[in-house]
Amino acid sequence: MGGLFWNKIFAAILVTGLAIFVIKEVSHSLIHSTQPEKPGYAIEVAKTQENTAPAEEVKQASLEELLANANVEAGARVAKKCVACHTFEKDGGRRLGPNLWDIVGNKTAHVESFGYSAALKNAGLTWSFENLDAFFTKPQEFMPGTIMGFAGIKKPKDRANLIAWLRTHSDNPVALPTIADNAAEEAAQIIEKTSEAVADAIDSAEVPSQ
Ligand code: HEC
Repeated sequence: MGGLFWNKIFAAILVTGLAIFVIKEVSHSLIHSTQPEKPGYAIEVAKTQENTAPAEEVKQASLEELLANANVEAGARVAKKCVACHTFEKDGGRRLGPNLWDIVGNKTAHVESFGYSAALKNAGLTWSFENLDAFFTKPQEFMPGTIMGFAGIKKPKDRANLIAWLRTHSDNPVALPTIADNAAEEAAQIIEKTSEAVADAIDSAEVPSQ
């Protein structure tokens, strides 16, 4: 029973501990809400304005979540606000604004022949989901100097539905985010980090004995 024996025991305990940690983290990231609806014990707290706020107001759904659950038909209804100035079909002409075929994932000022404002022409951005969402929230705020005369769309859900509808107007629609992907990615990251930590721990445990 040399030092190596104890090193092995030590490494085994460490690996077990880390494995438990990984399983806990992974299951936590896969199952977001593990809270029972009613706690097993009730503590009476005087209710104030803040703690009676509904849960949705506390935690807003992210753009990714809204896009993953977007309703394309509802998006088509939102797009009625745009048709005075934009066409969306392939080779659709310009109106006050440029044609918007294949806009999602495209570069800003994507129609060469359109007379864009200097702001949009020189923006050098990609119309990612995030940028479109920010632009549609308040065009003038996201892109000061834009000549798009549109106030913006208040509801995050309306914007997400609109973007989901816009993305269908392309020969190669950009993939929508899915929530399961995010959870799997988080889990993979945790596993990677933990296995690095395990390798480090085993390395440092291998102190030559006697
Ligand atoms: C009053 C007319 C008008 C309305 C309404 C309007 N737009 Fe625009 N839009 C424009 C103009 C003009 C531009 C070019 C802006 C510039 O050059 O600064 C533009 C630019 C854009 C761009 C950037 C295109 C590119 O090639 O970079 C997008 C995306 C866009 N509009 C989407 C929309 C959507 C979606 C709606 C409806 C929610 C909408 N617009 C409503 C006039 C309008």
